[in-house]
Amino acid sequence: MSVNINYKKIKSSKSISNVVFFVDDKFTITNIKKYISNKEFSYVSDLIKNINSRKKIFCFDLSSKKKIILVSLKKDIKSSEVENLGADLYNIIKELKNSEYILNTDSIPSKLTNFVAYFLHGLRLKSYNFDKYKSKKNTKNISILVVGKYIPSVNEQIKFKAIEEGTFFTRDLVSEPGNILHPDEYAKRLNSLKKFGLKITIYDEKKLKKLGMNTLLGVGQGSARGSYLVTIEWKGLKDKSKPLAFVGKGVCFDTGGISLKPAKFMEDMTYDMAGSAVVVGLMKSLALRKAKINAVGVVGLVENMPGGNALRPGDILKSYSGKTVEVLNTDAEGRLVLADALTFTEEKYKPKFIVDLATLTGAIIVSLGSEYAGLFSNDDKLSNQLIDVGENVDEKVWRMPLNNNFDKLIDSKNADMQNINYVGGAGSTTAAQFLQRFILNKTPWAHLDIAGMAFSKYGGALNSGGATGYGVRLLNKLIEDHYE
Ligand code: BES
Ligand code: MN
Ligand code: ZN
Repeated sequence: MSVNINYKKIKSSKSISNVVFFVDDKFTITNIKKYISNKEFSYVSDLIKNINSRKKIFCFDLSSKKKIILVSLKKDIKSSEVENLGADLYNIIKELKNSEYILNTDSIPSKLTNFVAYFLHGLRLKSYNFDKYKSKKNTKNISILVVGKYIPSVNEQIKFKAIEEGTFFTRDLVSEPGNILHPDEYAKRLNSLKKFGLKITIYDEKKLKKLGMNTLLGVGQGSARGSYLVTIEWKGLKDKSKPLAFVGKGVCFDTGGISLKPAKFMEDMTYDMAGSAVVVGLMKSLALRKAKINAVGVVGLVENMPGGNALRPGDILKSYSGKTVEVLNTDAEGRLVLADALTFTEEKYKPKFIVDLATLTGAIIVSLGSEYAGLFSNDDKLSNQLIDVGENVDEKVWRMPLNNNFDKLIDSKNADMQNINYVGGAGSTTAAQFLQRFILNKTPWAHLDIAGMAFSKYGGALNSGGATGYGVRLLNKLIEDHYE
């Protein structure tokens, strides 16, 4: 199903097709009187008296061809609530036979700026679905004509569209199965982002070996596919100001390696590259909306497979930082990929900050479920900014501890550290504590463990199930509010 939205800056008038109106929290409909006939008005007023429900959207049939949909807005409605309402409207109209609607913005009682843009943003985000591999696709087209004085400005339209396109790109990548989106194919798709003005550099195995990225390479060495580090640069400023850096875990499939996962825990591991996909989607959004910042995305793309050449438990690897790691469990692979990517990013770009994203631990799902991503950081300012914007766009983060006391759990007898904690407990924190060892120059850094957020079995407010794209809107807002 596709949704087509068009804008027309004409005065709202009486119309013969389906119309969406906005009303206040008491369903006062006097403000829509001038857009419908007297007969329709008395019909709706009559029915509305009987409304005694918490529902915020009501749909009235005036004839077989015409519906009036009332969307009720509570006082002081927040932007994320407006987005959710747009998504609710989508849920209603996707079930209806009608395919053409007029959205009357003159009826809006809210003072929220960008109201319509948020509403349609929510609607469009909710309408995404991944049906590439279905023989029978839903070919229904919904078209919405937005009229009246509150239609979004062209700049707003571009901005929200950019965020949607970025989010959809992330969702597409996460939805692809492991046999299609393996590291070779992933690197190829990233190369095609050049057309948006992004600078793409692909480091293949040969180059990575030369650079000494042995922890990243170690994870991919059992795979028939290549391993890559890809950098995606956006220069939105003419000056040479330091970029913001985003680093993502791109494990295209995580079998666990020789420390093989049981089947029940393996089937979802096609989304183990979600952290990287968020970085990619974000970079695409920044380019599409020509964000006035410098930014760089760095993703490590590998496939974690068992095999004759795979890592063995007990293997010791020398990372790009020079620190050595004893790999006690080949299923704790994400931190090995990120270790090299983090040090490289810090050294090469000297960024203002680094935010990394990864589906890093099952333990974060135990702690926070699918409501919050785990946030681990060496910087209070960056943390508070992330917490704030997370509330704002309803992609929430919850700060978890880092502390040197956890270090003893990952110190190794045979190497500088080991990749799992012997004793057990605090699985997400010890993983983050491990990552922190690869930030060498005290760059402000935040790690987001998105294992519980990247994929939704049942759907959420702004997604209909499957890949959520969680993180794109969070980081876009971080940039917009604090760095642009
Ligand atoms: N990709 C997994 C983490 C994960 C689990 C993501 C469930 C999404 C859903 C990660 O590579 C992993 O296997 N982590 C292990 C670490 C352990 C071996 C220390 C885990 O969480 O069990
Ligand atoms: Mn794993
Ligand atoms: Zn993994």
